[in-house]
Amino acid sequence: MAAADAPVPELQPRAATCAEQLLRADRVLLASHIDADGLTSAGVAALALQRANVPFEAVFEKQLDRTSIAAIANCDYETVLFTDFGSGQLDIIAEHEAAGDFVPVIADHHQPADADTEHHLNPLLEGIDGASELSGAGASYLLARELAARSSADERLVNRDLAALAVVGAVGDMQASSGQLHGANRAIVADGVEAGVLNEMKDLAVYGKQTRPLPKLLEYASDVRIPGITNDERGSISFLDGLDVDTHTDGEWRRWVDLTDEEKQTLASALVRHAVSRGVPAFKIDRLVGTSYLLTEETPGTELRDASEFSTLLNATARYERADVGLAVCLGDRGSAFDRAKELLRNHRRNLSEGIQWVEEHGVTQTERLQWFDAGDEIRETIVGIIAGMSMGADGVSRDRPIIAFASKNDDETKVSGRATGPLVDAGLDLSIVIGDAARAVGGDGGGHDIAAGATIPRGEETAFIEHADRIAGEQLG
Ligand code: C5P
Ligand code: C5P
Ligand code: ZN
Repeated sequence: MAAADAPVPELQPRAATCAEQLLRADRVLLASHIDADGLTSAGVAALALQRANVPFEAVFEKQLDRTSIAAIANCDYETVLFTDFGSGQLDIIAEHEAAGDFVPVIADHHQPADADTEHHLNPLLEGIDGASELSGAGASYLLARELAARSSADERLVNRDLAALAVVGAVGDMQASSGQLHGANRAIVADGVEAGVLNEMKDLAVYGKQTRPLPKLLEYASDVRIPGITNDERGSISFLDGLDVDTHTDGEWRRWVDLTDEEKQTLASALVRHAVSRGVPAFKIDRLVGTSYLLTEETPGTELRDASEFSTLLNATARYERADVGLAVCLGDRGSAFDRAKELLRNHRRNLSEGIQWVEEHGVTQTERLQWFDAGDEIRETIVGIIAGMSMGADGVSRDRPIIAFASKNDDETKVSGRATGPLVDAGLDLSIVIGDAARAVGGDGGGHDIAAGATIPRGEETAFIEHADRIAGEQLG
């Protein structure tokens, strides 16, 4: 593939170097992260390796650190492909490389550590934002395109169909802002549309349009809070009853996906009028409309049709130690793995809503620049970051300062998750530095993105961590 045909030309040379190394390998160990972006990264890479006839095995890690990298080295693979992590731990990986343990190939979008390696694909190395313009799955997709370009003469196998999974990863990493994807992600969307696997359309920007019955769709839509509807089951039902739209089929509530375009329009307009009449400001009402990314080969009305629902389904597997289930779904299983994933999703949803409720009930502690809570054993460490993010804007949790969450990891260690907002990042905040530096100051380690970062610290160091983090955030925000 010439650079001119590459979806993201700036990254083509790096993607090519990585692809060449993988094609030289007899077999590859594929290591990836346990969230939606990590799973789709692995799915894209696995399908591309399969199609290129490179044997591989996949492993998933909660976090890449000295211990997990040593375990990977012990698997005895000459070539290790890291997706959706690796850059942040490049210092440790480089030590293994120097010792001859394995040759690393990295397709990631996290802030790189201070070291380098030959096969390293990361948007941040070419001035592309890793938090908002390209995800791990996007990096993996660029690699997949280069693998195809080097291993197959068959036009059908250029791997552009994998753009659908890459978009699920980007959406799962919350890279859409102002209602849509930006930057390099847009080039991937364009590939998917051209390949006939993706469709983008302006639609109501509310989670669950494929699967939720209408009252639940409205009641649970909490991004834009609408009095009398948000978190109000009876209000949502009476709003729907007042519309000139058939809300039931055979006695069952219809879903958004079941409505005709005209019915959707009627409902959306009524919702906007209701919001205006309840005093919701115009800038928030604008957020009710956004771009939906639909996977055209998936069945309408399923958890896989819309990228946002697909990504939640994946988080419901890998964050509960069932990455195997999520990966199987990414690879095309629509039977037992998909059924299992749907069961796991029910559990995940319950945990999210209970977690947010816990934060609302227990509240957060404010420091000069931050707000924080310590969930101890009450919230699973693998989802405490999602809950921290979702709770911003809930009762008693401000959107004007970053939020830091603690959850216990084991007897000796505490998991830290931090989340910020676009305006805070624009004002100079970089949580990957705040959290990474504060963690290292108390004997832990961490990193991530400007808008979302995490760490592991020794148990008992939480107060000291907050003091450091508060000071660093203060320096950044001036
Ligand atoms: O490890 P990884 O890069 O895949 O995870 C990124 C994390 O950052 C996700 O948990 C995602 O939800 C979070 N994020 C966020 N807000 C954004 C962008 C990303 O909370 N605007
Ligand atoms: O775990 P959490 O969802 O809070 O992670 C937020 C971001 O920080 C993710 O992109 C994750 O990969 C990154 N992170 C990291 N090092 C850690 C923990 C999280 O780079 N020790
Ligand atoms: Zn990611």
